[in-house]
Formats: sequence, structure tokens, C-alpha cells
Amino acid sequence: MTRSRIREQNPDPDWRAGSRLPSPVIRSLQRFQVGESGDGAALIRLAEATGDPDYAAAVRMFVAEEQNHARMLAELLRAAGAPTIAGHWSDRVFVATRRALGLRSELLVLATAELIALEYYGALAASSDPLLREVSSRILDDERHHVRFQERRLREAFAPAPRWARRPAGGAWQTFATVVIAVVALDHGPALRAIGTTRRDFYTRCRRLMTDFQVAVFDGAGPP
Ligand SMILES: [Fe+2]
Ligand SMILES: [Fe+2]
Repeated sequence: MTRSRIREQNPDPDWRAGSRLPSPVIRSLQRFQVGESGDGAALIRLAEATGDPDYAAAVRMFVAEEQNHARMLAELLRAAGAPTIAGHWSDRVFVATRRALGLRSELLVLATAELIALEYYGALAASSDPLLREVSSRILDDERHHVRFQERRLREAFAPAPRWARRPAGGAWQTFATVVIAVVALDHGPALRAIGTTRRDFYTRCRRLMTDFQVAVFDGAGPP
């Protein structure tokens, strides 16, 4: 789905309404905006290399949706009188980790970000600022589909492996995801407080999503 098609189906919120956001929320949104704004070229190349044109097309649509999230967050920041930022260490670490291995590893790192996004935008969608609420709800809607999309693909990718090999892979992912969730909860703590939640609550909720995802991907049907 192209960006113009996405806009055609769902016209933008009225940015002119403006937005009044606390400064910790602005700093947090600036970091998420950077994270959403990659061009997805490496992921698209890996998807094309699978030789499955339907999957490659779905990944291109997924990347277009992520870029639309970055665009909407940039508009939201502008409506709140704040600039976007050129980069952040968390995004550089995230990209370097994703590129380290093949498609399955890239998807597992990506899935960690998608699960965190579900909780993050879910919390923001309950905010009192109408524009922030609107943008977060729209992104949240896409992220729910993204999590299911990554889960399905990863389950298929791990299904041929015997259980004794899947279990440690699931454990390694859980360790990685737990560290990432803790770092994000720490880094975005002031924003989480400003929108009425806490680091601990955010961490606990993300961990719950992570456990469900791990069971769905690594404990599914397949060789014993
Ligand atoms: Fe996103
Ligand atoms: Fe996403």
C-alpha cells in the first residue's frame, strides 16, 4: 500500500488544531519518531530473497505503514511546536542489532519493538490531548496487525525446527526482549508518568505480551 493510498483511505487528523504536550512526552515521541522512520530497505531485500512475492509485497506494505507512522508523529510534533530529531542512540543500537543476522533474527528484533509499540501507543491513546489520542489510536490499529503479521511469519519459520532447538531460541529472544523492555521503560519513564502510567506497569504489561508472543512462536506445533 503506497503512502498516498493510506492517506486516501484515512484522511489526516486536523493538524491545525494544535497539541499541548508535556516536554517529557515530546522527548519520548521524538525518539519513537526516529524509530519509525527507517526506509526498511534491508528488510525488503531479505523478504525478496525468500522468493515469496506475496510475502515481499506484504513487507513493503508494512514498511509503508511504519513510514506513515513516522510522518504522522512528525506532524504531531510540529502541531505541538516541537522539531523532530535526526537520530538517537536507541535507534542506532536497534538497527545494528537487526542487521546482525538473517531474516528470522531481523523479525525477532522487530517483533520486540512492535510489542513495545502496542503498549506505548495504547497508553498514549488514553491521553487527554485530542490530537495525541487520535494519532496514537491510528498507529495502534496498525501495530496490532503488525504483531500478528510478525507472529505468523515467525511461527512458520520456526515450525520445522525440533522443540529442543526452538526452546533455547525462545529463551534467548526472551532474555533479549526483557533487556530492551527494561531499557525503554527506563528511558521513557518521565513520559510514562506524564501520561498517567509508571515504568513498572509498562514493563509488566510489555513482559506479558512478550510471554504470549514467545508461546505462540516457539511452543507451537512442529517436530518434538
Ligand atoms: Fe509503527
Ligand atoms: Fe509496527
